[in-house]
Amino acid sequence: MSSFSTSPGTRDILTPDAARWRKFQDVFAGVVEEAGYGLIIPPMFEDLGVFLRLGEATDVVTKEMYDFEDKGGRRIALRPEQTASVCRAFVQHRPTTPWKVWYAGPNFRYEKPQQGRYRQFDQVGLEVLGVEDPYLDAEVIALASQFYDRLGLKEVQLSINSLGDAGDRQRFTDVLRSYFESHVGELSEDSQVTLTKNPLRVLDSKRREDQKIIANAPRIRDYLSPTAGEHFAAVLAALDAMNIKYVIDDRLVRGLDYYRRTTFEFVSTALTAAHTAIGGGGRYDGLVEELGGPATAGIGFALGLDRTLLACDAEQVFPAPNTDVFAFVVDTTGGQEASLVCNQLRMARIGADRAFDNRSMKAQMKAADRSGAQVAIIIGSNELDAGQVVIRPMNSGEQYSVNREDLVSAIQNEVSKIRSAN
Ligand code: HAM
Repeated sequence: MSSFSTSPGTRDILTPDAARWRKFQDVFAGVVEEAGYGLIIPPMFEDLGVFLRLGEATDVVTKEMYDFEDKGGRRIALRPEQTASVCRAFVQHRPTTPWKVWYAGPNFRYEKPQQGRYRQFDQVGLEVLGVEDPYLDAEVIALASQFYDRLGLKEVQLSINSLGDAGDRQRFTDVLRSYFESHVGELSEDSQVTLTKNPLRVLDSKRREDQKIIANAPRIRDYLSPTAGEHFAAVLAALDAMNIKYVIDDRLVRGLDYYRRTTFEFVSTALTAAHTAIGGGGRYDGLVEELGGPATAGIGFALGLDRTLLACDAEQVFPAPNTDVFAFVVDTTGGQEASLVCNQLRMARIGADRAFDNRSMKAQMKAADRSGAQVAIIIGSNELDAGQVVIRPMNSGEQYSVNREDLVSAIQNEVSKIRSAN
C-alpha cells in the first residue's frame, strides 16, 4: 500500500499551532472590524486573467502561478494573493465607496520551499477602494502597526517609499532603463532579462553582483510629480503625528507591478533567515480600471501569517492559547457518569472532556494532565454510592468532595477563582 505525505511547500498545521493560527486571525479581525472593515471571502481560484494584472514581468506571474485548464476549458489560477480578487469583486458588485474590506486565508505560489517560504501560505490583509486621502494611507499603516502591538511584537521595522503616479513611474522607468542599459554587462543574467521587461524590478534584485549598480541608480524621489510628492509628504506627516516610526527606502519597489504612490513593507529584525518581510502593501490606483472598472483609488496590505508567527517565536510572544477544556472527568465506574457530567457542564458553557474505554485511574489521570484542563473531576465507586464527586484543581493538588447536585456551581466557583488569579 502506498502512503502519502504533504507536497513540498505545504504543511499540516496541527494543534496547538492551529489554535494559535486561529487566534491570530481573530486578533486581526478584532483590530480591523473595530475600524469599520468588513470581511470578504473571495474564491481561492479565478480566471487567470485576473492575476495577469499583477505584472507580466513579476516572478509571481511568470514563474510561480498555479494555473491550469479546467474541465470546461477555462484558464484558471489558484490565487497568489487577494488584492486582485478584491478589485475584481469591486468591479463585479459595484459596492458604494469607500469600500473597506479585510480577508484571511491561503494563497499559492510555486516558489522554492524553505523556512518562511511556502507554496501554500496564509495572509491576513485589508483593502480600501475609492479613497485618495493620504490620511487613509496612514490609517492603513497604523492598523498594521496596532495589530503587531496586539501580538506583542516589538522588533518590526516599517520601510516606506513612493512610486509616484503612473506618469512619474513611466518617466522614472525610462530613466532607469537607460541607466541599467549603460551597465548591462555588469548586471546578473536574471537582471538583464528583468531589464527587458521592467527596469523597476531590477531594483528589487537581491543578487550580489547587482548591488553596486543598484546603489548608484537614479532615485524615484527625484522624479515624483508635485501632487505625488505632496501626497507622500502628507502620509509621512500623518505617521509622524501618530508617532509611527518608519525608514524611507528609495529602493522599495515591491514584488508586484500594480503599485503607485505609497508602498511599504514590514520587516522583522528578530528573524535571521532570508525571509524577514512579514508584510507589505501600498496604493494601486489603476488596478480597478485594468480589471474593467471605473477609475478608483485603492490601497491595502497583506501580512504573512506563517512568517509573522516565526517572528513571534523569535521574540517569544503570542503563545498558543490555552485549551478551552476546563474540567477533565475521570470516571472509574464504567463511564456513564462521565457522560452525564460532561453533558451537564457543557450545557452550562464550561469546557469539559473525559477519558473513554474505562481505563485505569492512573491512565485517566495522565490523560487529565495531558489535556491541559484546570480541574479533574474524579468519580469512583465510593463517590458514586455516596452521590458525590471529587474535585481536584490540577495545580494545587488539594482535592475536595461535593454533592453531585452541587457540581456545576462548584466548578463555576473554580472558574472564577482561576479568572481572578489571572
Ligand atoms: P506580498 O509582499 O507578495 O504582497 O505578500 C505579503 C506578505 O505575504 C509577505 O510580506 C510575506 O510575509 C507573505 N508571503 C508572501 N509570499 C510568501 C510565501 N511564499 N511564503 C510565506 N509567506 C509569504 C501581497 O500579497 C499584496 N497583495 C499585498 C497588498 C495588499 N498590497 C496591497 N494590498
